[in-house]
Amino acid sequence: CGIVGYNGKNQATEILLKGLEKLEYRGYDSAGIAFQTSSGVKMFKEKGRIAELRKAITEEIDAHVGIGHTRWATHGVPDQKNSHPHKSASGRFTLVHNGVIENYEKLTRDYLQDVQLTSDTDTEIIVQLIEHFSLTGMVTDEAFRKALSLLHGSYAIAMLDDQDPDTIFVAKNRSPLLVGVSSECNVVASDAMAMLQVTDQFIELHDGEVVLLGRDGIVIETIDGDKIERDPYTAELDMSDIEKGTYPHYMLKEIDEQPGAMRKIIEAYSNEEGTLDIDPFIKQAFQHADRLYIIAAGTSYHAGLIGKEYFEKLAGLPAEVHISSEFGYNMPLLSKKPLFLFITQSGETADSRQVLVKIKALGFPSITMTNVPGSTLSREADHTLLLHAGPEIAVASTKAYTAQLAVLAITAFSLGGGSQKLELKKELAITANAIQTLTDAKKDIEKIALELLTDKRNAFFIGRNLDYYVSLEGALKLKEISYIQAEGFAGGELKHGTIALIEEGTPVIALATQPGVSPNLRGNVKEVTARGAHACIISMEGDSEQGDELILPHVHDLLTPLVTVIPLQLLSYYASLQRGCDVDKPRNLAKSVTVE
Ligand code: G6P
Repeated sequence: CGIVGYNGKNQATEILLKGLEKLEYRGYDSAGIAFQTSSGVKMFKEKGRIAELRKAITEEIDAHVGIGHTRWATHGVPDQKNSHPHKSASGRFTLVHNGVIENYEKLTRDYLQDVQLTSDTDTEIIVQLIEHFSLTGMVTDEAFRKALSLLHGSYAIAMLDDQDPDTIFVAKNRSPLLVGVSSECNVVASDAMAMLQVTDQFIELHDGEVVLLGRDGIVIETIDGDKIERDPYTAELDMSDIEKGTYPHYMLKEIDEQPGAMRKIIEAYSNEEGTLDIDPFIKQAFQHADRLYIIAAGTSYHAGLIGKEYFEKLAGLPAEVHISSEFGYNMPLLSKKPLFLFITQSGETADSRQVLVKIKALGFPSITMTNVPGSTLSREADHTLLLHAGPEIAVASTKAYTAQLAVLAITAFSLGGGSQKLELKKELAITANAIQTLTDAKKDIEKIALELLTDKRNAFFIGRNLDYYVSLEGALKLKEISYIQAEGFAGGELKHGTIALIEEGTPVIALATQPGVSPNLRGNVKEVTARGAHACIISMEGDSEQGDELILPHVHDLLTPLVTVIPLQLLSYYASLQRGCDVDKPRNLAKSVTVE
């Protein structure tokens, strides 16, 4: 979910709606907005996208203070009653929330037996609790803090009080939240992008902090009332980075941005001698470790699988990769000097963060590799390696994945000591050009997508060695945005069970870019085509055969994933378009998942 709040000189409606549109990547099951007006708090909420909410606001609203929310449903189905904002029983308090309150059932039993609840959400409990304490005689600020002190879980909160129309009450714990300041207004948002329209000056909030957000000033305090002074920083974001421009979808724009991102990464990680290198302190952390534990979710996990190969081959550092949501239950036996590397585009994924919190408590060192400077995991780890891919808005990750691969390669390379040597800078530049060649060949890939995937219900991706990991990412991409059931497999494993699913016309996308193993992979293709599959072989110049459908420009063996994934991203894009799906905002998903 994402939240916004505005308190300033201008009319709030358009600013809040625009802010919410920029936060839609965090969830789009429902949306709502509440304003302070001369006749009290006015509220609108709708199921579905911000566009629906816009339609529902048919009247001019004269308001300079307001809060808004876009929801990714956790507790309660995405309908109007469960949409935020939520009101207290008397209607005095109105609140939006991002996060999960774990003890909401107990709080209901302990304090709210007599209150008629109107939704199935954990959020309503917060606002009812605040009213409960205010009815015992506490002023709003006190009631707000008292309620917060009882909450277990994660929250970013903004609240309006009917009887204090000039203040937005704000609180944060384990869910991202920033305050934005300017001479015209003060704002609050889950992400700076939402409020870049009014300011580029933001103040970080830390867990357990409360803000009283007025029009002319803000007060930041700990939950216990200790004042906090913190200077704003300038958000290094450009409006053009977060707009689609002439592209029909963010995803296509972001696919096309990959060669540029690659070049930016090369520049950002070149030292004074022009060699690819990383910060000496971060290098020390790696050099001190006897084993690397890579922790990630989704696409970032897929990048981690390839990262492991880079660390072992280029740096001689043993590495293992774990899905963040599982790591906590099945923590492996750790080595004597473990180092944790969190790979996360957003830097906000709650599943990954809970591992960071755990391993920090155990006293282990950590590094976050992220696209978002100042994000939660970046702030909380010992060190940060930035991806420099620019804001990624489409829910399906593309340029962040290739950026992760590049930064992983650079990091492993800069450590040295592995068995494999390469001129990485030169090879990455060649790779950037190869990516460009493929993004320029969209028409060919669109044609393959139509021939291969039109009207198909399922698809398989196979590969061996590094291609296997890319096949996992290819399958995830296709599932996410076209809803075609897809699986990625190690070529040799298919015959041990899954080949039973191959029927006449089943699409099999076979990645055959890995020297040495491509004859075996081609053998796997024969096995499936003999059973009726429609195979599309993707190979690499120099290793291709007649009849291969797509031949990729040659790049260094270790860097093939950066190139092989491009046609897979485009295949998914065109399959999604062809089915009339919402490419940038696929159903049920959110880009930044801030709940565990
Ligand atoms: C969500 C997104 C995925 C992403 C995953 C991890 O599920 O929909 O695209 O790969 O989170 O996100 P992170 O920001 O940690 O890389």
